[in-house]
Amino acid sequence: MLVLGIESSCDETGVALVRAEGPAAPPRLLAHALHSQIDMHQAYGGVVPELASRDHIRRVLPLTRQVLAQAGCGLEDIDTIAYTRGPGLAGALLVGAGLACALGAALDRPVVGVHHLEGHLLSPFLSADPPEFPFVALLVSGGHTQLMRVEDVGRYELLGETIDDAAGEAFDKSAKLLGLGYPGGPALARLAEFGDPDVFTLPRPLLHSGTLDFSFAGLKTAVWTQVRKLGDRVCEQDRAHLAASTQAAIVDVLVKKSLAALKQTGLSRLVVAGGVGANRRLRAMLDAQAQRRGWRVHYPELHLCTDNGAMIALAAAMRLQREPQRARRDYAFDIAPR
Ligand code: KG4
Ligand code: ZN
Repeated sequence: MLVLGIESSCDETGVALVRAEGPAAPPRLLAHALHSQIDMHQAYGGVVPELASRDHIRRVLPLTRQVLAQAGCGLEDIDTIAYTRGPGLAGALLVGAGLACALGAALDRPVVGVHHLEGHLLSPFLSADPPEFPFVALLVSGGHTQLMRVEDVGRYELLGETIDDAAGEAFDKSAKLLGLGYPGGPALARLAEFGDPDVFTLPRPLLHSGTLDFSFAGLKTAVWTQVRKLGDRVCEQDRAHLAASTQAAIVDVLVKKSLAALKQTGLSRLVVAGGVGANRRLRAMLDAQAQRRGWRVHYPELHLCTDNGAMIALAAAMRLQREPQRARRDYAFDIAPR
């Protein structure tokens, strides 16, 4: 089964081809291409939805041609077309849904709408060292922070989630307060390399709440208070210390809650997915804990941590291996922005 995957939920256009054999083997990535709109949105300090949709329209066909050429395939070789159904920006999602349905109708092939977070969650199955079920998943993206017990594909139990801001949002908003560009997460992490995480004392909200829920809104306020206190006297070194302290606070909470989730479920495998999963401090601290306790931590390949088409093709293929009836031929532009 050859699956074409299209991702267009936010500010990256991603297209990929995945080959799936029997249900026992994880699907293989044949080719993937990505266009990031970061440069275009940077001037506005965030994603402008209308510009995002227009750019997806411009990019999606050339990227599709590119992956077909890379894989040495023709359109007629595609068995199923997968696209991100949501969550995301409505206009942006419609571009992927529109192309998927148009290709499906023209080629007489079924289409599958994929939940963007399921794509992130399953993305480590494309790595050289894929996880085995069951596992605990820490999903940390720009819009979501969740801990889940994952029994198998499609069998997810929510253990805890953020009650306000997402972890990626906490990185992005703190970065903005520090005068860093968009997207703030990677920029804050880079600045943090030059700082001492112990210089500023920042809150670790809900750390001892006894639940697996998160809260990051208070942290952003604490960063704002520090920035105001430093005022015009702020020097580059202070900004680096504050970046390091912010990163340490976010990572501390993510690590502690992940460990608590493993303890609570009695599982010994953790999968980390979503953009914040690219954070080096988070990876280093989780790896150190895992080594000490004999647990395994799995990540997507670094270049597949943020949004991409490969995870959408993969999630569709893994779902279809178990539930072939999910493939649709109604070609309705079915999206779910929320
Ligand atoms: O999963 P993703 O690409 O998009 C969403 O589905 O939201 O995640 C994007 C988020 C942004 O908030 C970005 O700042 C954050 O991931 N991010 C990072 C790093 N790389 C991306 N946060 C911290 N450290 C990083 N290295
Ligand atoms: Zn994402």
